[in-house]
Amino acid sequence: MRIAVLNGPNLNLLGVREPRLYGTETLADIERKLRAVGEELGIELEFSQHNGEGELIDSIHALRGRADGALVNAGAYSHTSLAIRDALTSAEVPFVEVHLTNVYAREPERRHSMLAPAATAVICGFGALGYELALRGLAARLSSKRV
Ligand code: DQA
Repeated sequence: MRIAVLNGPNLNLLGVREPRLYGTETLADIERKLRAVGEELGIELEFSQHNGEGELIDSIHALRGRADGALVNAGAYSHTSLAIRDALTSAEVPFVEVHLTNVYAREPERRHSMLAPAATAVICGFGALGYELALRGLAARLSSKRV
């Protein structure tokens, strides 16, 4: 099984970006931990991070027929980008929307997700652990063919 992990704008700054909110782990720390879980589950992982909406969309298109699923933290684009939702739907890749923070407990503009209507599941508020929970959940869902 092959699962892509896509991160959007400003997530390259994890570790130094508002650590009170987002924690002190870097994206590289998250990747390292997730790779260990991937090995445990026999899942091949591919990681990418883009600050631009167009680059994120291009990397989503590239998943078509190549990835069995994806974990997507599209950062602020999660709240605004119908184009990213369209790309995920067009690529026909089941995905879990991930957020480090509980976006529903934050400012009103973060309480709506453009991606959630197309997502298999949404995980938010568990910090970096959310990526691992999302990976385990998506792998279980894909193995049981109930996506
Ligand atoms: C985020 C939440 C978004 O509202 C924010 O713009 C981010 C990070 C999260 O992981 O909690 O960049 O997606």
